[in-house]
Amino acid sequence: MLGNFEYCNPTKLYFGNNALNHLEKELIKYGPNIMLVYGGGSIKKNGIYDEVVKILKDNNKKVIEDGGVMPNPTVEKLYEGIEIARRQSVDLILAVGGGSVCDYAKALSVSIHCDDDPWDKYYLRFEEPSCQIVPVGCILTMVGTGSEMNGGAVITNHQSKLKIGHVFGEEVMPKFAVLNPEYTMTLPHHQMVAGIYDIMNHICEQYFSGTDNNTSDYISEGLMKSLIHSSRQAIKDPHNYEARSNIMWIATWALNTLIAKGKSTDWMVHMLGQAVGAYTDATHGMTLSAVSLPYYRYIMPYGLDKFVRFAENVWDIHDEHLSKEELALAGLKAMESWMKELGLVMNLTELGVNAEMVEELADATLVLDGGYKVLNREEIIHIFKESL
Ligand code: NZQ
Ligand code: ZN
Repeated sequence: MLGNFEYCNPTKLYFGNNALNHLEKELIKYGPNIMLVYGGGSIKKNGIYDEVVKILKDNNKKVIEDGGVMPNPTVEKLYEGIEIARRQSVDLILAVGGGSVCDYAKALSVSIHCDDDPWDKYYLRFEEPSCQIVPVGCILTMVGTGSEMNGGAVITNHQSKLKIGHVFGEEVMPKFAVLNPEYTMTLPHHQMVAGIYDIMNHICEQYFSGTDNNTSDYISEGLMKSLIHSSRQAIKDPHNYEARSNIMWIATWALNTLIAKGKSTDWMVHMLGQAVGAYTDATHGMTLSAVSLPYYRYIMPYGLDKFVRFAENVWDIHDEHLSKEELALAGLKAMESWMKELGLVMNLTELGVNAEMVEELADATLVLDGGYKVLNREEIIHIFKESL
């Protein structure tokens, strides 16, 4: 049975290799001051920066630059952006980049007019915005997080060793997003595959929970199958538009709130991964790939039927001689082979984690209760140790 829910996703999408042509009609809706938010320089190398600035200038916009957003954006960078924005009166924040840039833009949008400290208010107290919110638009260059069509904004505080995501409501979701699959073709291989695994895990986090047979699970299986197929094409031929465009579209649907509706969701792989991210600053998708299999093997007995369904419906494993446990494990094994095919990081040691850090990582892990098993501290330590 589906639970009760409200559903609204206000982000307008422009998809395809001419998607940037639509930017102009969005810009008309906003005042002249555009805060252009971007990362460490990839958009300057591949020419996207020049294209976007030209459109802004042609439309008589004033460009307020805020570059240098790092992967896993920090709270210090957020404070810096707030200062820049407060010196001007920003009408639109235009994020050009990956999930880090989009997340940062959303965190900024609720902080510019906020009287409280945004870290305390949004990331420690999880309060909702009570101030004016500056609109955000995204031009996506890295695929994976779904940030282009959701309210998530993950910020890292290195001082307190915490990486925390606040999922804001529809008033914070981007007003529009430009999705041109060609923009993702300059991504280095490890970023492309990290993004692919991030997508897979977003779907798994929403799939491995609950016991009902519901529409969401069928949509999830379709998305996973399409992702597995397209990812295999993309690693062989990164310039394959069919593959890259499908991956971009799957990423958006994997985390634009739709498949979570009416059911419980897990998110513990992300909580474990975020603790690792707070300590190591490692690439988000790789923190997930390093902890996933030990986590899923551990919780498998608590949600056995879903793991059997995963083996059968996602990996096409059908063998009447296998027990449920054997089938479920075969599904995870198939996922493991696919992960290795992609070239993902398969353990925490590769990310610089050692056995002495495990207790601290456990302290930094937020425990959620939507999955098949609510983990206690010993179980979290066990999973981290298994992931080394
Ligand atoms: O900074 P630049 O120079 O632009 O380089 C970036 C960055 O180094 C590079 N890149 C991006 N587009 C490129 C490119 N390089 C070449 N060509 C391009 N077209 O890729 C690197 C990684 O970018 P980043 O934005 O950090 O990656 P991603 O999209 O994976 O975002 C990661 C952040 O999003 C958060 C993560 O925790 C992490 O902080 N997440 C946000 C979520 C959400 N909003 O719902 C959910 C996710 O689970 C995730 O937690
Ligand atoms: Zn993720």
